[in-house]
Amino acid sequence: MVAQVIDGKAFAAKVRAQVADQVAKLKEENGITPGLAVVLVGEDPASQVYVRSKGKQTVEVGMNSYEHKLDADTSEEDLLALIDKLNNDPAVHGILVQLPLPKHLNEDLVINSIDPAKDVDGFHISNVGLLGTGQKSMVPCTPLGCLMMLRDYHGSLSGMDAVVIGRSNIVGKPMAQLLLGDSCTVTIAHSRTKDLPDVVRRADIVVAAVGRPEMVPGDWIKEGATVIDVGINRIERDGKNKLVGDVDYASAAERAGAITPVPGGVGPMTIACLLANTLTACCRANGLPEPEGLTA
Ligand code: GUN
Repeated sequence: MVAQVIDGKAFAAKVRAQVADQVAKLKEENGITPGLAVVLVGEDPASQVYVRSKGKQTVEVGMNSYEHKLDADTSEEDLLALIDKLNNDPAVHGILVQLPLPKHLNEDLVINSIDPAKDVDGFHISNVGLLGTGQKSMVPCTPLGCLMMLRDYHGSLSGMDAVVIGRSNIVGKPMAQLLLGDSCTVTIAHSRTKDLPDVVRRADIVVAAVGRPEMVPGDWIKEGATVIDVGINRIERDGKNKLVGDVDYASAAERAGAITPVPGGVGPMTIACLLANTLTACCRANGLPEPEGLTA
């Protein structure tokens, strides 16, 4: 079997176009412009790239972007004061604090100081609890993007066997909750899982989110399974820098029914879903109906 390639780049462009349409409507009919505040502490190069990209795409869909760049030695008190200000600013509908934070800042404390209604990352304990109990919440962007692609490809996911490899708070755990919410039978596998190849071989859906280059070989993949590769790993091969996923793409594509490439798969969906979440937060804040197809 040669897998169908799930084009995340094209899908993300479609999501952004939907968001832009809804933003234009909100402005015209309600005089409201959604606003996203992004807070970056320090100068981590990868974080700087992400934050720039987020700001650019926010403006492109017609939203207001507020960037707050703070020094690496910013005190917790000053960061919490900024978050409090953003929580109380009616022009700000979404707040994202870029992770990782410098070591002297308590990440949990900072994230949990964001108003849950503005927590467009879905990392606040209230949102984690709401998602876990099947209530309306803000859903973490990367898993939301994976879910959108799976629903688009399969229609219903009901009854499918899904394996999520990786148990991070940002991807693995919320991904498992979302798949459970769509009535999959879900296994969360991780570095201590016994017989990982056997566990993966049973799965109709494999979501790989471990951050280890090409750790899932094609012969672990069940014939016809759908493979969602969340990994973005920079490696050197043949003297060149290359981005690869957590799945060995070439061998997996020979067995899978559908697969996301790296780059161009899950990656572009993350920021598209951040914009979708900001729109959702803005609609909820104003008592307006939520955009269709852009939430879990
Ligand atoms: N750092 C890496 N991924 C993310 C993300 O999804 N959200 C935030 N806030 N920081 C990140």
